[in-house]
Amino acid sequence: MPYAGLSLEGKVALVTGSARGIGAALAIGLAEAGADVAVSDVPERLEDAATTKERVEALGKKCTIYALDVLDLDNIKSATDQVVEDFGSLNILISNAGIRRPKPSLEVTEADWDLVVDTNLKGVFFCAQAAARHMIAQGGGRIINIASQFSVVARENRAAYCSAKAGVANLTRVLALEWIKHGITVNAIGPGPTVTPGMMAAVPRSAEELERELAEHMPLGRRMEPEELVGAAIYLASPSASATNGHLMIVDGGWTAK
Ligand SMILES: NC(=O)c1ccc[n+]([C@@H]2O[C@H](COP(=O)([O-])OP(=O)(O)OC[C@H]3O[C@@H](n4cnc5c(N)ncnc54)[C@H](O)[C@@H]3O)[C@@H](O)[C@H]2O)c1
Repeated sequence: MPYAGLSLEGKVALVTGSARGIGAALAIGLAEAGADVAVSDVPERLEDAATTKERVEALGKKCTIYALDVLDLDNIKSATDQVVEDFGSLNILISNAGIRRPKPSLEVTEADWDLVVDTNLKGVFFCAQAAARHMIAQGGGRIINIASQFSVVARENRAAYCSAKAGVANLTRVLALEWIKHGITVNAIGPGPTVTPGMMAAVPRSAEELERELAEHMPLGRRMEPEELVGAAIYLASPSASATNGHLMIVDGGWTAK
């Protein structure tokens, strides 16, 4: 019999950026643990979200797709309110939506900077705020922000991304301090290099370069699969994690251990 402390049965989860990649794997993983799932993404990616929805429904769980652009504060609020109206509650938020625009720092424009920081940091804050307002009214909840190994170590050509992800780690701690009195825990997961459409498109390098990078930085010796992040998310979303608060759980194959 599965350990009941890790069951998400009866819980409702909203996952941002869950049409593909890590978000899709987490949405499906939470459903496997028992949650109903609100899948969300930018309007132009909602067609991809249909696959995530099918996988969740095949597990016998409720799933609805929402257009939720984390750059649009009104949209964050209206979509979150709609989830609560449709599902009756919101117990778990996974703030996963994110982008990368690797570029040498001397070439970064204001528009590049704003896009990456607004999506990866400001969006995380306002999604948490919108969800917390409902969670406080309900008496508690779980917020999980997807950070990065670059929340704690640096990488060339990723000034805005590393700044935003470091910000997510400390934002997580601030919200954890503020909202634990309402029964809300706020934690983060810091993935290492994970095979996703966004990651593969953003890093157009030769096979030799990729191999060299893995040999130099990645003790695991390979890139991770999105499914290797699911257990961490289920734990942080579960009743078992009631005392885990403000934590950045690095799941990076040992990248930051070096
Ligand atoms: N893949 C990795 O190696 C890796 C490593 C560390 C951290 N991360 C983080 O994991 C998260 C998911 O990344 P991924 O690799 O699955 O990327 P991905 O590009 O494959 O998926 C990201 C999803 O976010 C959505 N998104 C982008 N901008 C959005 C917006 N404004 N509003 C709503 N949704 C938006 C995209 O449409 C996409 O579906 C990101 O926060 C990323 O920074 C990824």
